[in-house]
Amino acid sequence: MLVHTIKEVRDIVNSWKKQGLTVGLVPTMGALHNGHKSLFEKSAKKCDKTVISVFVNPIQFCPGEDFEKYPRTLDADCKIAESAGVDLVFAPNPKEMYPNVQMMTSDFLTYVNPPFFYVNKLCGKSRVGHFDGVCTVVNKLLNIVQPNFAFFGEKDYQQLVILKKMVNDLNISVEIIGCPLVREESGLAISSRNKYLSESEKQDALALSKILFNIKNCFQKGVTDIAALKETAYEFLNEHHTLEYLDFRDAETLEDKNIADENTRVFIALKVGSVRLIDNISLK
Ligand code: PAJ
Repeated sequence: MLVHTIKEVRDIVNSWKKQGLTVGLVPTMGALHNGHKSLFEKSAKKCDKTVISVFVNPIQFCPGEDFEKYPRTLDADCKIAESAGVDLVFAPNPKEMYPNVQMMTSDFLTYVNPPFFYVNKLCGKSRVGHFDGVCTVVNKLLNIVQPNFAFFGEKDYQQLVILKKMVNDLNISVEIIGCPLVREESGLAISSRNKYLSESEKQDALALSKILFNIKNCFQKGVTDIAALKETAYEFLNEHHTLEYLDFRDAETLEDKNIADENTRVFIALKVGSVRLIDNISLK
C-alpha cells in the first residue's frame, strides 16, 4: 500500500499497534535496489509489519550535491517493496515533511545535531551539515511511524553509528538494527548513485572494493601497520580516480586506529570522474 501523508501512516500503524503487532521501519531515499531489499526482507522477517519511507530529503544534501538529479523511481520502488514483503510505503512530498519549504535552514527549523566527534571525520568532513539533515529526518520518521525496530545498512556505516548514538542520547524508543553491506557480484557496493556511472566508470569503480579486499587480505596475512596497508591502495588507482579518504577506525567509536586489529573498520571515499562513491569493510 502506498500513502503520501503523515496522517495516513499514523492511522494505519495505530491500527496495527492496537492489534499488538510489531512494526519495522526502513527509511530510504528510493531508487531502490538489492541493498535496500535486503533491509526490507530483514524487517519483514523480524517484524509483523514493515513500513518503508521513500523520501529524497532535501536538508541532507549540501550545496552543489545531486539533490535535483537524484533518481526518483517511485513506481518501480513500490514493486520492489512489495516483492520484499513491505506492507506500507510512505512517500511524502517535501511539503508534507517540511511545510515551509522556504524555511528549511536551522534559523527556522528545529534540527537534530549529532556530536562533533562523530561528524568531524569520514563523510562528515566534506559533507558539512549532511548528518544534521539525516538525523533530523530520521528523528521525524521515527516520530511519525513509532516503529519497534528501524533498519539501516552498513553501507553507510558512519550514518548507522550516528543514528545509534542519536537514539541512545535522545532516549528514542526504538531498536536500531544494522544490516550487512550488499555487493554486486563484481564486488561493487550497490548504491543508488551507481546509476550515474558509465560502463567504463563502473570498471573504475571496482577500485573501491578491490582496495578494501586487498587490505583485508594483507591484514589476514599479518600486516598491521596502517601506513603499509594504506600504501597498497595505490596500485588500484588511476587518473580517473580522486581519493577523498582511506581511513582505519574503531568499528564502535569511529576513533582513529594506530595499528590495525580485528575491531578495525576500513573506510574509503573515492570520486570516479564526478561520481563520489563510498565503501567500507570490517577486518574481522
Ligand atoms: P538511502 O541511500 O536510500 O539508503 C537507505 C538505507 O539503505 C540506508 O540504511 C543504507 O545504508 C541502506 N543501503 C543502501 N545501499 C546498501 C547496500 N548496498 N547494502 C546494504 N544497505 C544499503 O541512507 C539514506 O538513504 C538516507 O540517508 C536516509 C537514512 C533514508 C535518511 O534520509
